[in-house]
Amino acid sequence: MKIRMMSRIELLWKQALKTFTGCESAGYKMCKNNFDKLHSMINDIKAEDVGVDKRVLDHVENDVAPMCCIDIFENNDITIAIFLLKHGETLPLHNHPGMHGLLKVICGTVKINSFTPFQPTENLPNSTEVDALKHPLKIVEINDPACVLLPHDQNLHEITCVKGPAAFLDVLSPPYEGVSNRMCTFFKQVPNPASPSSPSSESKDNSPIKVKLIVTDQPPCFYSTSLRYLGPPLR
Ligand SMILES: [Fe+2]
Repeated sequence: MKIRMMSRIELLWKQALKTFTGCESAGYKMCKNNFDKLHSMINDIKAEDVGVDKRVLDHVENDVAPMCCIDIFENNDITIAIFLLKHGETLPLHNHPGMHGLLKVICGTVKINSFTPFQPTENLPNSTEVDALKHPLKIVEINDPACVLLPHDQNLHEITCVKGPAAFLDVLSPPYEGVSNRMCTFFKQVPNPASPSSPSSESKDNSPIKVKLIVTDQPPCFYSTSLRYLGPPLR
């Protein structure tokens, strides 16, 4: 009997399905052990495991768009995709309503500002103000473990490529849109009246600080193009 060796990305895909299948159904409860195993598996993923090489990175850096996306897999329960940001570009502050997410940097270095909102952020009209905790800034590179976002905690983030191009692999559950039609909402941080010149002020002692956000349109200068997935097939 011939035994087929599964690639790292296939193993990750199967674990993501095991963790999140049925997540939209009433009786679903996420098993923490499954999620922890998924987290440890994504920590081992490298650019070569998903077909991201110099050719792909050169394409991103020379593309017109600030960001390229590579869709690997999507069903009603999970999305697996790679996002590639050009040097100096920022994926604007956005939410992941009711979603779990893992974000593993596989190329370059990014700076991540994440926020925990004090209220649900699903389908809020433009100009709605939301109080949130701003977490200490994180610089994340290829040797760092995957960042975790939860349905509530650290559910909003803004990602800037500080050494690029940068690429990160995302596992999200449930997907945007999908059966519950989750929309991605964009936000801006409202300048602090005490120091209006520094809207991105950080806490002095590395603890979260309370800030105000406001719902905005997707910034018109931010858009993405698609690239074909060149890594091992999922089967
Ligand atoms: Fe995101």
